[in-house]
Amino acid sequence: MAHLITVSLELRVVPTKLLTQSAVRRAQRYSSFVFTVYAAFHITNTSILPLVTRSVPEASKYLLLTRPYYQSWPLAEPFIVILPLAVHIVSGTLLRLDRRRLALQRAGAESRSDRRTVAWPKLSGTSALGYLAIPLVIGHASLTRILPWWVEGGSSGVGLDFVGHGVALQRVFGYAGYAALVATIGWHTIFGWSKWLGLAPEQVTNLGREGKLASRRRWWVINCLSAATVVIWMAGGIGVVARNGKVGGWIGKTYDELYSRVPILGRLV
Ligand code: HEM
Repeated sequence: MAHLITVSLELRVVPTKLLTQSAVRRAQRYSSFVFTVYAAFHITNTSILPLVTRSVPEASKYLLLTRPYYQSWPLAEPFIVILPLAVHIVSGTLLRLDRRRLALQRAGAESRSDRRTVAWPKLSGTSALGYLAIPLVIGHASLTRILPWWVEGGSSGVGLDFVGHGVALQRVFGYAGYAALVATIGWHTIFGWSKWLGLAPEQVTNLGREGKLASRRRWWVINCLSAATVVIWMAGGIGVVARNGKVGGWIGKTYDELYSRVPILGRLV
């Protein structure tokens, strides 16, 4: 009787767990679709248009035109940026913890010392870049959205020239920070999309030498695509926007005031 109860409970628990897992997996995948739409807008505004117009004031006009669509609080921004990003990161981490739990279960590890002997699930290059992107994205959003909001009550007074002004004040941190942000997200996104499309190197199904060759070919193609995306993004975002230099007059003074409030680095400005 006790055995029957256990079996029936297990039958109920297993499908629920599988359902939860597939829901989390879907959440991780589809949240990144939403975020990609925002990323496309953002790259167009902050890189492609500056690159095409070769002028920060000219490109700023387009930024002002499209900004109301994704910055309108309380609707667009939380739903197309903050929420999907949080869902993507939290669900990815939950799936990782679940893989760890399964590995421990399979190894029969119970005590703390048993658990130490079981390796954590391998961190793929794409996932490592994803974790690296978190502090960079938080830093970028803190400078361009949270700082103006905190000091002035809004970020409508901050344009593309705010980035160039900041980089001119802190060249090393500025260039290194933006280069790291663009490269990390560029590589993570292109490798991420290749996985969603079933085209990642590890998703090759052929076996043997042929499979190895196909996987290597994919690895090269995806890296070249990532490099091309990052180079174009940097050409506009860094080559035009970040190199724009200091802004003069009253706007320049308000930008100086904003950057001086940045913890630690602000004192060096
Ligand atoms: C914009 C489009 C994006 C796409 C298509 C995408 C796609 C992916 C994919 C496919 C994975 C799983 C990698 C694997 O299993 O090896 C992943 C993991 C991850 N992503 Fe993204 N991602 C995007 C944006 C971002 C951004 C902007 C961040 C951070 C700010 C981010 C943070 C992460 C993290 C932390 C993981 C690791 C989860 C884990 O495996 O523990 N992603 N992403």
